[in-house]
Amino acid sequence: MNRRQFLASTAAAAVLPMPGRAAQTPLTLKAEAVTGQILPEGEGATAMLGFNGSMPGPELRLKRGAPVSINVENGLEEGTAVHWHGIRLDNKMDGVPVVTQNLINPGSSMAYRFTPPDAGTYWYHSHYISQEQVARGMMGPLIVEDDTPPDVDHDITVLLSDWRMEESGALVDEYTDMHSVAHGGYMGNFARAFLSKEQVQQGDRLRLRLINAATNRIFPLAVSGVAGKVVALDGMALKEPRDLGDLVLAPAQRADVIADVTGPVGFDMMTRQGAYRLADLTVAGRNGQRQPADIPALAAPELPAPGTPAQHLTLTMMGGAMGGRHGGANIWAFNDLSDLHETPFGAFSRGETARITFVNDTAFPHGIHLHGHHFYEVSSDGSLGDLRDTSLVAAGESRDVICVFDNPGSWLIHCHMLSHSIGGMRTWVKVA
Ligand code: C2O
Ligand code: CU
Repeated sequence: MNRRQFLASTAAAAVLPMPGRAAQTPLTLKAEAVTGQILPEGEGATAMLGFNGSMPGPELRLKRGAPVSINVENGLEEGTAVHWHGIRLDNKMDGVPVVTQNLINPGSSMAYRFTPPDAGTYWYHSHYISQEQVARGMMGPLIVEDDTPPDVDHDITVLLSDWRMEESGALVDEYTDMHSVAHGGYMGNFARAFLSKEQVQQGDRLRLRLINAATNRIFPLAVSGVAGKVVALDGMALKEPRDLGDLVLAPAQRADVIADVTGPVGFDMMTRQGAYRLADLTVAGRNGQRQPADIPALAAPELPAPGTPAQHLTLTMMGGAMGGRHGGANIWAFNDLSDLHETPFGAFSRGETARITFVNDTAFPHGIHLHGHHFYEVSSDGSLGDLRDTSLVAAGESRDVICVFDNPGSWLIHCHMLSHSIGGMRTWVKVA
């Protein structure tokens, strides 16, 4: 083996071992001003931002293990950058201005090249003044297809968000008022779900890919008219499908559900005032072919097995309204520091397993997102629980996670309530 072959094969095998596959057709995403129909048909349209003329942006469907190039063109009047949320990719392609790239200036473009290692439900969104650009619509679904898809009649993406709007449909142009930053964050007064298909038949088996694309809102969800199970969270297959029950999705979290249609299908957000309808799926006709069958588990993701943790770190969320004092210079902080500093919160040698305790010492829930990796939430009995990229920690609670830091680079860790992130609740880790 010559020297060049040796380098090429270690590079390919290091983080994401998988058989080489042919490159996929290059894609283009143009960030631009769009007009969206957020309010019901017949009501006012909304001037907002989006990609390729639509909000949400187009659903990108990628093949696992095959290199892709996505050219992001900036048709906005301000800079931007796009983050491929949940994809374990090369650090340079992570889409975080200053940390992993320069801004894409108006009129410029950047080709993001990566090879998605894991099948599942992901999403993409702006990572520049994201509390504003995402609230204005810069997001879309990113699906990495299964090598062998489960046997379903429809694969439907359900993207949830909320918007602060006038009666006319115009967005209220206020994304960082200090009151909401210090509380639960920017919240819309109108919420809905966008479905990639509108009609199914009674008896159909569905795969639903639920994505919470809201900037700050936690969605407690109820799906009616189906009988089924949750099969994946944050893109990663569960070992055993789990009862659907009531799902809770923090901002950026995803859930995949496989379910059979038993009646009119509705998606509701559960609120103290009752159910708030986010979307309906019309049921017309009957599927006479489909036989009852158990809900299968999806293929297990190929992630490195955790070793014995070499470090145990604590990440304490601090600040906000009704919170105690902290040493940070902004509204929110981690471990007494607000915003990004030169020293990372954690430094790991590549491949090292670490345990991190997320402590929520504030009066609000937070959804903590780590870039470039998935981690295991540790269950109450101490065993490895779900693999996630965003972990919801309730006010006053804490959660341990275990992560194999196998992806070299500088990676953000921040609250995905984007108002909290801009309000200081962000830091980073270094893997070398
Ligand atoms: Cu989904 Cu740092 O983001
Ligand atoms: Cu938060």
